[in-house]
Amino acid sequence: MMKVEVQAGAATQPDACEEKASRTTLFFSVRDQVGALDECLRALKASDISLTRIESRPSKSEERSYDFFVDIDTDAPEVVQKVVDTIKSVEIVRDVRAIGSLDIAQAPSQPQVPWFPRKMSDLDTFAEKVLEMGEELSSDHPGANDPVYRRRRLEIVQMAKTYRTGQPLPRVEYTAEETATWREVYTRLHSMYPRYACREFLHVFPLLEQNCGYGPDKIPQLDDISRFLKDCTGFSLRPVMGLLTPRDFLNGLAFRVFHSTQYIRHHSDPYYTPEPDCCHELLGHVPLLADPHYAQLLQEIGLASLGASDEDVEKLATIFWFTAEFGLCREGANVRSYGAGLLSSFGELEYALTEAPSKQPFDPSKTALQKYPITEYQPTYFVAESFRDATVKLREFNSTMRRPFQVRYDPYTQSVEVLDSKDKIHHLARAIASEMQLLADAVDQL
Ligand SMILES: [Fe+2]
Repeated sequence: MMKVEVQAGAATQPDACEEKASRTTLFFSVRDQVGALDECLRALKASDISLTRIESRPSKSEERSYDFFVDIDTDAPEVVQKVVDTIKSVEIVRDVRAIGSLDIAQAPSQPQVPWFPRKMSDLDTFAEKVLEMGEELSSDHPGANDPVYRRRRLEIVQMAKTYRTGQPLPRVEYTAEETATWREVYTRLHSMYPRYACREFLHVFPLLEQNCGYGPDKIPQLDDISRFLKDCTGFSLRPVMGLLTPRDFLNGLAFRVFHSTQYIRHHSDPYYTPEPDCCHELLGHVPLLADPHYAQLLQEIGLASLGASDEDVEKLATIFWFTAEFGLCREGANVRSYGAGLLSSFGELEYALTEAPSKQPFDPSKTALQKYPITEYQPTYFVAESFRDATVKLREFNSTMRRPFQVRYDPYTQSVEVLDSKDKIHHLARAIASEMQLLADAVDQL
């Protein structure tokens, strides 16, 4: 009876930065008996406060009991105390505590866990949160003093700002000037790829030309690319206003969602952009999102980032930097590029494979601590043996992180499950057993 998880619709979209300040989570335990939930809800209703989330799970400390986590949209001490007193007055309730902005993943005795998305639509909370650029441009942006460019960029940014899960991805009618910029970048990079790009990238690129409209004369649409990626690896693209926080960006990868800008750099300098633009995203990042092993590597980084400490998110963001942005990989006696920062930069793509920079074997425990410049070529790169090998090493590294719980992504419901109860772990074990049976049957039939 009490094993239901109740979620309060649209009100369950906490903003990690802004809403935390005025949100309190109440924790209390309830004996499992008929009408228990109704009784608690009645008491909360009588307090005249708005609930933004109610979740329950079997109690870890007491059998036939359930722990409840209820978010209320206030942190005013007098209001919180009044609600706590009201809940305490319910006979079947025990152990009532107001535990600030804690999340369901933590018990009161555990360290604070940052909010993280549980379902695909939770990513909507990132739509209007960007670190920089977004609707504004920094003064050193080549388009900063071009009102036509600024207006156009803002138009495209607004599409990302208003996009929500489930809607068709916005299609942009690119102008002749924008297409000319794309053509210049595309043509030059395309000629360099056979010499510098890894084999997985070279395998996928012609498929993008065949299926997604890649070519020098047209800027491909996110919607077409996203559909293609979905068929290949389950990855999808999502428009974004500008640079997300590392936490938000990495959290999206847990859902196999890649946040992508849709505007293009200023036409005055096709070879330079101070921010990610569609050339960087579509030429640098997209191709390998169609590779299953690379997709797995990125999702592992994303899953590890859910609810991770700030310190661990910084390490994961550094690993992302030295893999997805500036990664090199071994191919027999050669080294090739797979990082998007390289594959979308003429100069650094060439430089990275010279003798000038240092090249270290990819080792997450070392890579995660490497300092790096963001406005000049990298002095150090990390070389992966393969995407699979990098994923294995990353998993080992992730197991050393201090997060007090494990998560898994459920592709059927497109949601993240926190493995924090016997029921959930049993369910996972049964699913694995079923897969093992399938494997055994398949081997028998060979
Ligand atoms: Fe990037």
